[in-house]
Amino acid sequence: MNDLNERKTFALTTPLYYVNDIPHIGSAYTTIVADVMARWQRLQGNSVLLITGTDEHGQKIERTAAAKGLNPQEHCDRIATSFANLWAKLHIQYDRFSRTTAPRHQAIVNEFFERVWEKGDIYLDRQQGWYCVACEEFKEKRELLDNGCCPIHTNLAAEWRDEENYFFRLSKYQTQLEQFYQEQPDFIQPESRRNEVLNFVNQGLQDFSISRVNVAWGFPIPHDGQHTIYVWFDALLGYVTALLDPEDEPTLENALAKWWPIDLHLIGKDILRFHAIYWPAMLMSAGLPLPKRVFGHGFLTKDGRKMGKSLGNTLDPFDLVDRYGADAVRYYFVKEIELGQDGDFQETRFVNILNADLANDLGNLLNRTLGMVKKYCQNIPPQLTGVDIPNDNRLKNMGINLGGIVEQKYDALQFNQACEEILALIRASNKFIDESAPWSLFKQKQQAAVEQVLYAVLESVRLSAYLLSPIIPTLSSKIYQQLGFVIDFNTFRSEDGEDPPDGVSFSQHCQWGLPTNPQLGTPEPIFSKLELPLNDS
Ligand code: MSP
Repeated sequence: MNDLNERKTFALTTPLYYVNDIPHIGSAYTTIVADVMARWQRLQGNSVLLITGTDEHGQKIERTAAAKGLNPQEHCDRIATSFANLWAKLHIQYDRFSRTTAPRHQAIVNEFFERVWEKGDIYLDRQQGWYCVACEEFKEKRELLDNGCCPIHTNLAAEWRDEENYFFRLSKYQTQLEQFYQEQPDFIQPESRRNEVLNFVNQGLQDFSISRVNVAWGFPIPHDGQHTIYVWFDALLGYVTALLDPEDEPTLENALAKWWPIDLHLIGKDILRFHAIYWPAMLMSAGLPLPKRVFGHGFLTKDGRKMGKSLGNTLDPFDLVDRYGADAVRYYFVKEIELGQDGDFQETRFVNILNADLANDLGNLLNRTLGMVKKYCQNIPPQLTGVDIPNDNRLKNMGINLGGIVEQKYDALQFNQACEEILALIRASNKFIDESAPWSLFKQKQQAAVEQVLYAVLESVRLSAYLLSPIIPTLSSKIYQQLGFVIDFNTFRSEDGEDPPDGVSFSQHCQWGLPTNPQLGTPEPIFSKLELPLNDS
């Protein structure tokens, strides 16, 4: 936790999503994870910029719009809106929504292109090869399946291309990149992805084409109107354009002034090569500092199977949020999947986990404890603080270490482990109540002991809610309000330069042992048990 005067900046990105279709669960997953990290950084008192947006040029989008009989811009506008709508539904607190068709983005792309051109890193040559339009990427023949499709888009055959393109001299940066990976071992995470990249680079890097002649939907190459800029060369720079303040002139200097270099690019494993190899090489060529970290997460499957429209088993994120609520969806994907590993969605499992963790372990704990405060303490929470609780109290012991442990987990993007640590305190609290039996203590007229038990449990619930707030902000806000605190984690942002409205600093909220609020909110169940749809088992 920082002193507000030495606020660190933390800029992070989701990929800029293709607008060939409305958002799918994969895009929702990356964005949820990014939002969790952004919220955590804000809780730490850092000044945060979360960038998301849409990647709108290229052949894939051009063809999709044409198939719908729409002008490409009109198509992009519609789909970009659906992304913004989903992010609102999921309570994503993004700061910038970067669209690659924005005019100011073109200014940034042109300036960047000029730099690389001046460096002598762009040349005209013949491009021959197999192109997957869905990936917007050339593939080696050996990478394709027997049916001629790439392994990600198994229903769309790669197309043969033979045309003149401008190329970027990636090969020139072979040694510089290798050196960079060595000097910055944390640049690519997790370790398995880093190894993938190192193996690929070891095989020798080849220049790649950065223009197209048969794609009208893109920015023209500054020196040659016959070509448009390759969608990936344009899209990666969308991260830079996003850094401009609304009133800034669109120049590289302005864009890079405050937030550059980006602290974290969160992406899926399929687009690792672009972010971990092409992107740093492009930046080296333009003489710019490199991003600090690229984290490649795994892929989601449904009921153990790859998801896809043609397979008829997609998982609609809008529908999921409508049926179960944003916090439920956020919690499942963050807690159930180790970031970096592939993960599965199974609806029965989804419902069971939410009911067990949030409705039973957390929700019931709060509810029954508040019930006891009403019954045994005239609804006035015990006026104690952490120092009034003996040092051998189990919850105090766990609670005072929890903030530090969870901080390490969040910083390392081990969100599932952060959840497990917090759940351990919640489960221990349930056990502690059962074992200390405040109802018997009350009968025995041991009021001080009753109050210590109830304080220790309520304080553990409070701390758990605080530490879970990046993941389940609405539930955490409800818990906080019932405990008499006034923070709404969906509206209050620490980077606004203030402490929470209750006057207690963020670093204190992060520790076990806060004084209780004399006035409780109205107790209500925070999370109703979920039901499985009738056709599911
Ligand atoms: N437009 C490029 C990114 C350019 S960034 C400068 C792109 N867009 S995408 O919409 O196709 O993919 C966006 C993200 O969704 C990627 O990180 C990808 O890994 C992720 N996912 C797509 N399907 C997925 C799953 N089934 N599971 C998890 N994430 C997946 O690539």
